[in-house]
Amino acid sequence: MNDMSMTIQIKNLTKVYSGDGVVTTALQDVNLTMRSEEFTAIVGPSGSGKSTLLQLIGTLDVPTTGMVYYDDVDVSKLKGKALADFRFDSIGFIFQQFNLLPTLTALENVMSPLFPRKVRYDKKGRAQELLDWVGLTHKQDSLPSQLSGGEQQRVAIARALVNRPAWLLADEPTGNLDTNNGENVFQLLRKYQQEHGTGIIFVTHDEHLASQTDKRIEMRDGCVLADMVR
Ligand SMILES: Nc1ncnc2c1ncn2[C@@H]1O[C@H](COP(=O)(O)OP(=O)(O)OP(=O)(O)O)[C@@H](O)[C@H]1O
Ligand SMILES: [Mg+2]
Repeated sequence: MNDMSMTIQIKNLTKVYSGDGVVTTALQDVNLTMRSEEFTAIVGPSGSGKSTLLQLIGTLDVPTTGMVYYDDVDVSKLKGKALADFRFDSIGFIFQQFNLLPTLTALENVMSPLFPRKVRYDKKGRAQELLDWVGLTHKQDSLPSQLSGGEQQRVAIARALVNRPAWLLADEPTGNLDTNNGENVFQLLRKYQQEHGTGIIFVTHDEHLASQTDKRIEMRDGCVLADMVR
């Protein structure tokens, strides 16, 4: 268990997309603080900027203006290998579309982020530990096409957590699941946060799930409409 509180701070974050002559302001002067001990939900209508925000937090894209800090690290200062290393240690991502590699088994999918990396632990052992934790040891040799949606998402969760990142960013991870599987995935993430102190930021359209989190951020038209800690 990691007792250390970690923080993500977002300062004056703006993202403007300008392709094909169309200019869209997806985020406008967003200021937020997320703490690792608060399970954070981000809600808001389609097009309100939730995925854009998560991508900027996750360093998958760069802001037009503004800053993202992980504790005292300004991620805009990280480039190349330093950025890749930071991502590997600090950020796990899961998506609505599970994005598993179709030709790899469940176990290989979980191990895949480790393939190009030097780590101090046994890669296969770690991957098996995570697969076991999500309850899928018996499916470790199955291909994604042989798994249900709920199972595929649990493999994706194990993959995102395989290097024990400081933060897990989840973009509508229950969006393609039925209520029951969605609730299971949500409870799994909750439990992981409590056991490991991992910060979790969870984008969802599901008000029932959002109501069970510690912090709720509501987006509207690229702005933060409400930011509430329970
Ligand atoms: N790569 C892109 N190029 C141009 N515009 C984009 C791009 N990505 C997103 N947008 C626009 O930015 C705005 C915010 O999109 P975003 O995907 O962040 O919304 P969202 O809240 O995640 O919506 P949803 O609930 O449908 O997933 C939208 O108007 C969208 O059309
Ligand atoms: Mg989205």
